[in-house]
Formats: sequence, C-alpha cells, structure tokens
Amino acid sequence: MLLKGLDERGFVFYTNQQSRKADDLAANPYCALVFPWHAMERQVRVEGVVEKVASDEVDAYFASRPRGSQLGAWASQQSQPVESREELDLQYTSYERQWPDGTEISTPYFWGGYRIRPEAFEFWQGRTGRLHDRLAYRRTSSSSWELVRLQP
Ligand SMILES: Cc1cc2nc3c(=O)[nH]c(=O)nc-3n(C[C@H](O)[C@H](O)[C@H](O)COP(=O)(O)O)c2cc1C
Repeated sequence: MLLKGLDERGFVFYTNQQSRKADDLAANPYCALVFPWHAMERQVRVEGVVEKVASDEVDAYFASRPRGSQLGAWASQQSQPVESREELDLQYTSYERQWPDGTEISTPYFWGGYRIRPEAFEFWQGRTGRLHDRLAYRRTSSSSWELVRLQP
C-alpha cells in the first residue's frame, strides 16, 4: 500500500472499498501497518483502529491522481477474479470512452480512504547474535505513551 498521509490524526491510505481488505476492516477495524527496511535490518510496526476518511478529502486525493490511475480505479473490481488480461484491458477502455481526454473523472462510489489512529508502535532494529532491539510504545491516553523494551 502507498502511505498517502500522516499527521497527528494518523496514517492514511486509499483503496477500493469492495476489496478483500475492506471486507476484513468492516468486520474488524483493528489493523497493523509494517514498514520494513531490510537493507538496514530495521522495521516499524504500527497498530491501531481504522476510520474512513471524509469524502471531501477522498475526492481531493482522487482528483490529484494521474488520469490513468483514475481510470484504472474505475476499471478494477479489486480482489475479484478476472477471466483474462484482455478482459481487464477492455474494462479500462470502456471507462476511457466514458471519460474522453479533457473531461473530469469522478471519484468511484466504491473508492475511499482509511485513517489508522495508532495505539501502538514497535521499532525493531536488527543487531548481532540475534539480540535485536525492540522498543514498544503503547498509548496510555490521548497524549501520552508508555515505552517498554521487549526481548527479541
Ligand atoms: C508498491 C505498491 C503500492 C500499492 N499501493 C496500493 C494502494 O495505495 N492502494 C491499494 O488499494 N492497493 C495498493 N497496492 C496493491 C495492494 O498491495 C493489494 O494488492 C490490493 O490493495 C488488494 O488487496 P486485498 O485483496 O487484500 O484487498 C500496492 C501494491 C504495491 C506493490
């Protein structure tokens, strides 16, 4: 996933809201984000609860995307099987015809964003002999965090 926003409210990503992950999040709004940097043996894990991004924010982001990505969002029933590559290309072409160059492409009704309000962070740093550093922060109130070092 592309991380498209980060501020004091949380981490934002955008996706198809009829996808497998959207179904999972509808059933259970808790999720984790993992940012690995293998070359540095470093990882940050974020756990939290998701909420949907407001529609005006979604529209503003969708409008900022390249035209091809906008058409691709319409053309893809994300996570559903498709007969062939040709079928997918045909779906794209039909939306290209619907919105010729120069016309404004609306945000798909099935498309949106999620904001993850972090409840916990774990900073992991690989070290020699398997004795890695793991620093775990857990939210104790809206503005304070408890820090615990975990065994690797
Ligand atoms: C570098 C990269 C960035 C991606 N960014 C997104 C994204 O921003 N939104 C999205 O819906 N899928 C993105 N994907 C595709 C997802 O990994 C995933 O295949 C898709 O969301 C369907 O997941 P699901 O079937 O679990 O719902 C990205 C994939 C890669 C490799």
